Amino acid sequence: MPSAAQTAIWFRRAQWLLDTCQARFGDMFTLRIVGESPWVITSNPEVIKQAFTGDPRLLHAGEANRILLPILGPSSVLLLDDDAHLRQRRLLLAPFHGERMQRYGALMSEVAAAEIERWPLREPHRLRPRMQAITLEIVLRAVFGVGEGPRMELLRRELRRVLDIATSPLTGAVLMTLGPERIRHMPRYERELERVNAPIYAEIAARRGAPDLHERDDIMSLLLLATHEDGSPMSDEELRDELVTLLVAGHETTANALAWAVERLCRHPAKLARLAEEVDAGESAYLEAVVQETLRLRPVISIVLRRLLEPMEFGGRLLPAGASIVPAIHLVHRRGDIYERPDEFIPERFLESEGGRAPGTYTWIPFGGGVRRCLAASFALQEMKHVIATILSELHLAPVEPRSEPITKSAISFSPGRRGLVRILSRNPSPPASLRHTSPSRHRTPA
Ligand code: HEM
Repeated sequence: MPSAAQTAIWFRRAQWLLDTCQARFGDMFTLRIVGESPWVITSNPEVIKQAFTGDPRLLHAGEANRILLPILGPSSVLLLDDDAHLRQRRLLLAPFHGERMQRYGALMSEVAAAEIERWPLREPHRLRPRMQAITLEIVLRAVFGVGEGPRMELLRRELRRVLDIATSPLTGAVLMTLGPERIRHMPRYERELERVNAPIYAEIAARRGAPDLHERDDIMSLLLLATHEDGSPMSDEELRDELVTLLVAGHETTANALAWAVERLCRHPAKLARLAEEVDAGESAYLEAVVQETLRLRPVISIVLRRLLEPMEFGGRLLPAGASIVPAIHLVHRRGDIYERPDEFIPERFLESEGGRAPGTYTWIPFGGGVRRCLAASFALQEMKHVIATILSELHLAPVEPRSEPITKSAISFSPGRRGLVRILSRNPSPPASLRHTSPSRHRTPA
């Protein structure tokens, strides 16, 4: 098939193309997408392991994201490779450490509870934009430490604009046509950039001098205190680029994953009822399994790329320098030899107490892997658990129509085609304040 046709299908029906090629050619095949080096797609766990654990100096991931340069900036961890990538990643990983993530739980539940109070009863309600509102507010508060006041309002507004620009189809089209380097030197782009950057730099300056900097636990404050190995702090430009990267990488992905979780649960009333009951009883094992199964069956990112700097052998084939080895998240998650009834939503498959198995490092890869694995995976998992638990303990949900929602492409990730259409049947009576918004598994007041 000509590469123009492959490209057109890829942008409209990526999963279908992956499934069809896998059925015809097996678990390794090549796609040729216009403007990209050849993609050697694989769903073989051994080959995926090799791609994730291979030498990162020879397997570049940052290059593939170069298109985002005008928005994220040259220091973004997403765009860097080699030692520069590892330096930035090391600094960013520390504040995203698993234990610290537990502490954001209360904030996540609080944001979700405030948002769902406004959701209408009984009429069709699209969840995806509302999930975006929740994940944006969580990133603003947990990552940027945004609070109240006029300076914060300006920052909030401009960060929303960054997202609008980053996710608009027009930006995508202009970036593809002109290329990231040319855009960076266009006066209109420079003006836009200055407008959004001004409040970010103002906040960085204010925060550097804040008397309570050492007591704060938002990511921006923690990064201001972090130092490179030579003892130097992050520059304002580095900090700006990483914060915007966290905003762009963390907002739409998690919102779509949340919309999918509710979409799947609503199509499986018995599982929805079981989860609501377990959340009420203060248990979190099934909630965890639901999150894992949602990310398996509806991964919001379906491939990750590693570009080869030298010829290398993968799965018995010698691939040339310049080609990319591409672990296909979507395909490995649907392998019948790894997952029984792979197309069905069965959270129990991950419950060890019911004969299930914990997710495998190279067979459950919604966050990618190796030195490029999503550095906020525990933040995202925590967020999903807290938001789902808050929704289920306060609302009774049902789908508007029984048919599953199709998978469609949003700006960066894949989302429910009808934007997570649900009906809220009723609300639960409010739990007492002492039990509100503290854990993903909290008790409901007896009626
Ligand atoms: C369910 C939600 C999320 C999913 C499914 C997801 C998925 C991914 C994937 C597939 C990658 C590429 C990994 C690779 O190439 O091996 C990635 C990278 C990344 N993600 Fe996430 N992500 C999510 C949420 C977040 C959040 C909430 C943040 C920030 C607050 C974030 C920040 C990042 C960053 C900075 C990288 C680049 C890591 C690097 O290159 O070293 N992600 N994510």
